Amino acid sequence: MKIQSICCIGAGYVGGPTMAVIAKKCPDIKVTVVDLNEARIAAWNDEDVSKIPVYEPGLSDVVAEARGRNLFFSTDVDKAIDEAEMIFISVNTPTKTYGEGKGQAADLKWIELCARQIARVAKGDKIVVEKSTLPVRTASTLKDILENTGNGMNFQILSNPEFLAEGTAVEDLMAPDRVLIGGDQTEEGLKAIDALVNVYARWVPKERILTTNVWSSELSKLTANAFLAQRVSSINSLSELCEHTEADVNEVSRAIGTDSRIGPKFLKASVGFGGSCFQKDILNLVYISRSYGLNEVADYWEQVIIMNDYQKKRFSNKIIKNLYNTVSGKKIAFLGWAFKKDTNDTRESAAIYVADHLLNEQSKVSVYDPKVTEQQIYSDLDYLGSRAPEENKDSLLVVDDPYEVCKGAHAVAVLTEWDEFKTYDWQKIYDNMLKPAHVFDGRNIMDKKALRDIGFKVHAIGTADDN
Ligand code: UDX
Ligand code: ADP
Repeated sequence: MKIQSICCIGAGYVGGPTMAVIAKKCPDIKVTVVDLNEARIAAWNDEDVSKIPVYEPGLSDVVAEARGRNLFFSTDVDKAIDEAEMIFISVNTPTKTYGEGKGQAADLKWIELCARQIARVAKGDKIVVEKSTLPVRTASTLKDILENTGNGMNFQILSNPEFLAEGTAVEDLMAPDRVLIGGDQTEEGLKAIDALVNVYARWVPKERILTTNVWSSELSKLTANAFLAQRVSSINSLSELCEHTEADVNEVSRAIGTDSRIGPKFLKASVGFGGSCFQKDILNLVYISRSYGLNEVADYWEQVIIMNDYQKKRFSNKIIKNLYNTVSGKKIAFLGWAFKKDTNDTRESAAIYVADHLLNEQSKVSVYDPKVTEQQIYSDLDYLGSRAPEENKDSLLVVDDPYEVCKGAHAVAVLTEWDEFKTYDWQKIYDNMLKPAHVFDGRNIMDKKALRDIGFKVHAIGTADDN
């Protein structure tokens, strides 16, 4: 079966870039991305491609090439479902904030709404593809809804989790390590798998396209994120030991990373991992394990999150301790708010928690990030709910210039590893700060020696203070 038209529900960080790359690589397939959010769709359609709502290196070029040719963004969800042979579901699945499983289980409200809408609208057979990260066994829920509320059409459900990382989305999509496609191991299921394999096979070598049953595919996505997050928490747990023993965590990472069994990636000690996936997916894994009565399994993975929360707290405490145990009324400048470099996404960013902790200590925080908007920063803080929005406005200031943000500050905290931070004129920053001037490097990216030569007191994750 050769697919001619695809629809994707959800024009976010996953749906947008993924569909843009499919459209670029398959000019003969019509790809329509739909979303309920009108402002988001309008931004994807902005004539000025630099205004698209997701910042990713290289993405605007891909959109510029395919948009209007075979890539379309629209709010007409019904029409797009009706026209498509294959429908990707790429809506958000945040952690539940209420009721049973609150704080751990994935909220599948939006997934269910999509399934009901597809069932209502579909006038022909469809292949429905789970793109969002979902708890294992979600496909059976989808199937149930589609079959019981539909008009008697046939639905095949595939799981095709996205492994792209933000900041390198286009690169990851163009040359993925692997593409994973899970489906029913029946004749119809295998046909559906084959149809999707043929889409990716236009640019991905066949041996990199793995096919499995649906459940393995769903669980593999959660597992991949849990393993990656675990590596970060493992190295972060040792970063504290390094600070006490004069070992340098960067050197330890390099030493163990050259062991080919371990490998060099995801060993960068940091103020803690953020992003929309890691925490959510691990909590989800914990919840599922507990729901099967597997308490040891649940506790094992929960510790990854506990370690991550501790690392964020520990970083804020390091700032407070070094500023003579009080930051009340002191200005602390943040470089970076995004959860990592090269993205404007701030979900679960460590910066939010560090700021919250410092604001509780009555510090004045000022923030500069090259890609995150002021409105986003306030909404992240307001969402935590520790204090009233007016109070957040009073005690946190967003500044659009990196030199301005540091003026008159007691300390600069590096919260995101943006490359540009390394190229600033740090002498100029130093001259305009209160003394002693501190740098707290939460990302381990700065040249400690150069900063010390200027006169800064430098504190990095995973190195003893005077090293
Ligand atoms: C992740 C997975 O990598 C991706 O495959 C999945 O599809 C979605 O979740 P993403 O959240 O975009 O991608 O970012 P990632 O690069 O994995 O980083 C996650 C967090 O860990 C970031 O806050 C990052 O700064 C942090 N991190 C990563 C470290 O602190 N140290 C490291 O060595 C690597
Ligand atoms: P991700 O990082 O997983 O892509 P986002 O939150 O960036 O997550 O994107 C999910 C998108 O899905 C949002 O833009 C949201 O408006 C959209 N969405 C959620 N539910 C529906 C729905 N039922 N129909 C259409 N769009 C939806």
